[in-house]
Amino acid sequence: MKKFSVCIAGGGSTFTPGIVLMLLDNLDKFPIRTIKFYDNDGERQKVIADACEIMLKEQAPDIDFVASTDPEIAFTDIDFVMAHIRVGKYAMREKDEKIPLKYGVVGQETCGPGGIAYGMRSIGGVLELIEFMEKYSPNAWMLNYSNPAAIVAEACRLLKPDSKVINICDMPIGIEERMAQGLGLKSRKDMVVRYFGLNHFGWWTDIRDKDGNDLMPRLKEHVAKYGYGPSPEMLEAAGESQHDDESWKHTFGVVKEFYPLSPDMLPNTYLKYYFMADEVVAHTDPSYTRANMVMDGREKHVFGECQKIVEKGNSEGTTLEIDEHASYIVDLARAIAHNTNERMLLIVENKGAIANFEPTAMVEVPCILGSNGAEPITQGEIPRFQKGLMEQQVAVEKLVAEAWSEKSYTKLWQAITLSKTVPSAKVAKQILDDLIEANKDFWPELG
Ligand code: NAD
Ligand code: G6P
Ligand code: MN
Repeated sequence: MKKFSVCIAGGGSTFTPGIVLMLLDNLDKFPIRTIKFYDNDGERQKVIADACEIMLKEQAPDIDFVASTDPEIAFTDIDFVMAHIRVGKYAMREKDEKIPLKYGVVGQETCGPGGIAYGMRSIGGVLELIEFMEKYSPNAWMLNYSNPAAIVAEACRLLKPDSKVINICDMPIGIEERMAQGLGLKSRKDMVVRYFGLNHFGWWTDIRDKDGNDLMPRLKEHVAKYGYGPSPEMLEAAGESQHDDESWKHTFGVVKEFYPLSPDMLPNTYLKYYFMADEVVAHTDPSYTRANMVMDGREKHVFGECQKIVEKGNSEGTTLEIDEHASYIVDLARAIAHNTNERMLLIVENKGAIANFEPTAMVEVPCILGSNGAEPITQGEIPRFQKGLMEQQVAVEKLVAEAWSEKSYTKLWQAITLSKTVPSAKVAKQILDDLIEANKDFWPELG
């Protein structure tokens, strides 16, 4: 089997060690000859890279490894770029969350004004990665999960329409893992799903097992009672996942509050920020948000463990774990490399997949993924309620991409005003003006 060369862009990410361990665990399916890390913060990346180099030497000494801040080194001779950058890092995530909260508005990484602010930073960063890839490895594909994926995907469609980029989100995967667990299935891959929406803004309409049996009735019964949280019987059997802490547990459970709004379908957890905006704000401590939890939790853990590995010179006893959940990245790469035609939820240009929705919208739907890229599977017509919500939200996302590319203050103000999370144009302007001040090192100057 051909051996592949991959570049992990955002080498200093908290997710990098788990992904490297996952790649090592999948070498039989996806053989690797080279792993390169790229990050624009060499110091941050070095901690992760030095530890990963030790683990690679222990488990797969044949794999060449290099970590660099030089794009020519990192992007030359690459088959796949796995991109997970966070432009502005957690310090800026914290501002994205705290600035809207000052005005009583949802402060979230990817939803509402915080997601818009993050989008304005991410677009330039991701487009630059695409340019490096195309310059140094023109045949490579980028598998992008840098957030906010909806806005990044729209910017790619608008500004890099011919580039080989696949945008994906792991939230549906995480939820489907929970569904499979609740149903007593071995794996989420034992389910065939129909789903439609935008990224972090969608619904499952049909879920069947491989024999075609309808699993929706049992799932709906569960979600009505527990959301995507575990039933008492499931609690004991629960395995580890990326979404394990108290804040995530609350997010999964609270789905039962808005599920009845459209009980034919099963909603994505992220709809919480639109349907329960007032409660979310009321229950958020504006001085200690999710960014603080992640900095005190995942970031401290991952960087602490990496430092220990480097000091000891080996990874014995480390609590860093294989990110099983991230094996969807291997599925993506294999689908392209080996034309597996795997069915996966991806973020793609609508072009009729949702029949009664804007053809140029970047939607999240099941696709068949092969060596020519993604072929969306038609989901038919969607109901008025979802269509209305999605039209508003897709306009927000398109306005952000246009605001970035045209450097337009007005379009960005419109985008924030249009977000369902924001009460008025006046509040939108106050938030925008604070965000501009906070983001002056990252955003284009708006005219
Ligand atoms: P992190 O801050 O730990 O890591 C991001 C890294 O990107 C940092 O080391 C930073 O220096 C680097 N970086 C920032 N700007 C860069 C640029 N222009 N060029 C190169 N490197 C740059 O963040 P994290 O929490 O580990 O998350 C990483 C990314 O993955 C985020 O975008 C996050 O939202 C995303 N994510 C997406 C999904 C999904 O479902 N799509 C799931 C989990 C995480
Ligand atoms: C899910 C979403 C990602 C998001 C992440 C945030 O996995 O799909 O898009 O980045 O949650 O998790 P965190 O633990 O950083 O709040
Ligand atoms: Mn996501």
